[in-house]
Amino acid sequence: MKIIKSKSDLKIYLAEEKKKGNSIGFVPTMGALHKGHLSLVEMALSKTDVTIVSIFVNPTQFDNKEDLAKYPTTFEKDVELLERINCDILFYPSVDEIYDGNIVSESFDFDGLENQMEGKFRDGHFDGVGTIVKALFEIIEPDIAYFGKKDFQQLQIIKKLVKKYNIPVKVKGMPIFREPDGLAMSSRNTRLSKEHREAAPFIYKVLKKARKKNGIKSVKEITKWVEKQFQEHPLLELEYFTIAEEKTLISVEEFEGNKRYRAFIAVFAGEIRLIDNIRFKNN
Ligand code: PAF
Repeated sequence: MKIIKSKSDLKIYLAEEKKKGNSIGFVPTMGALHKGHLSLVEMALSKTDVTIVSIFVNPTQFDNKEDLAKYPTTFEKDVELLERINCDILFYPSVDEIYDGNIVSESFDFDGLENQMEGKFRDGHFDGVGTIVKALFEIIEPDIAYFGKKDFQQLQIIKKLVKKYNIPVKVKGMPIFREPDGLAMSSRNTRLSKEHREAAPFIYKVLKKARKKNGIKSVKEITKWVEKQFQEHPLLELEYFTIAEEKTLISVEEFEGNKRYRAFIAVFAGEIRLIDNIRFKNN
């Protein structure tokens, strides 16, 4: 695997590949790679000729300085994991290489998607995500880019970004990868204390039980039930639970026609914030 740190070196390398007619698959990450990331890389490897992964802890998408400072980094292990599955290129730029001394976000209008859920609780987060993903798409010009559905709101926002800016890339959402006990894989899981790690699978258990109530209880009743589960939990604190339409991400109280819905949740396990989501059938 080639490790490339500069935009210009990467562009030169990719121009050669494109000249040969090779398609480019791209997986943007912030490192601390886990099986969920690797599943995206494996998909890119199977679908495109050249697979490129980026590792860049993007400062502008963190609303909390401490969260940024404590974001896990496991660079050597990441390289080993990527080499093991034969990833072609790792793009590993510095903050300066990307932001050129001006660490600020562009301001985006994602037709309101940015104001729901995570947008309400993480100020400026999606401006930061939009800024870095747009910059990476402009440098790499991939044919296909892969994102996990754990960050479902982010996935919808990237799809909107691509549409609004006419960026010629196919954005693919990939299934959530879970630990055997059901906890959605996340780089942040490594920062959980032992007791919070043991408690965290409760989040997915509640989501699954909530889904079972669908069709029997109203959305309001399901939401109340979820809130109660966390009020009674000694270690996990609910930030939000909502059932929303997949396309607009607007919370609903009733299901309509043939639209698709999903339940979304954010929970604090100590100081670590975890998110998850699950498909809800429109009964
Ligand atoms: O999902 C992530 O890891 C990040 O938000 C992304 C897409 C790599 C942008 O920094």
